[in-house]
Amino acid sequence: MSHFRPVELHHASRLINHGPTVLVTAAHGGRRNIMAAAWSMPVEFTPPRIAVVIDKSTYTRELITGAGAFGICVPGAALMDLTYAVGSESGRDMDKFAHYGIDAAAGPVLGMPILEQGCAAWLECRWIRETHTESAYDTFFGEVVSAAADARIFDNGHWNFTDQNVALHTLHHLGAGKFVVAGNQVQATFPVSK
Ligand SMILES: Cc1cc2nc3c(=O)[nH]c(=O)nc-3n(C[C@H](O)[C@H](O)[C@H](O)COP(=O)(O)O)c2cc1C
Repeated sequence: MSHFRPVELHHASRLINHGPTVLVTAAHGGRRNIMAAAWSMPVEFTPPRIAVVIDKSTYTRELITGAGAFGICVPGAALMDLTYAVGSESGRDMDKFAHYGIDAAAGPVLGMPILEQGCAAWLECRWIRETHTESAYDTFFGEVVSAAADARIFDNGHWNFTDQNVALHTLHHLGAGKFVVAGNQVQATFPVSK
């Protein structure tokens, strides 16, 4: 049984607001691919838009520009090794989904590959062409057109990191395969009491 539930688009920014390492997916012309990306962020609430750095050397970039769309999946801690693996080899000559036994479905709006098993959330994005930022900074923009999250960790527009959902806690790359796992959720008090 899937624990995924739709996320209202005005809450989509929250899925990557805290800077998790994500999996970027794309499918085009009978090929599909997946890579890791540590550099992504929301840039607009409404309409919901995000930015992600996609290097010119990647095969994913070819598929995104071909499809005009991409998927963003937010892997949980249990997918750390897979995340590092798909970020360490190119799918140009291999199908990483088949090689690693990744179970992907087609996103409901754009048909981009989306992962639920082991992931905390996913977003489907329509590519917003920005020739200058793509060429100068490898930065791609996308408009989020559908999103969903595992209700055990993101519900009613809010993350909830607890000891009961550790496998879904997000990954944050420190470099060279070392990650920290998000946790220790705390709540700020405002106004500050004096
Ligand atoms: C943890 C991690 C984070 C990464 N972050 C990015 C990123 O933000 N942008 C990028 O272009 N490449 C990033 N990479 C590298 C790509 O994932 C890598 O080049 C990948 O092999 C590209 O695959 P592809 O050729 O199949 O598209 C990252 C790799 C790892 C392991």
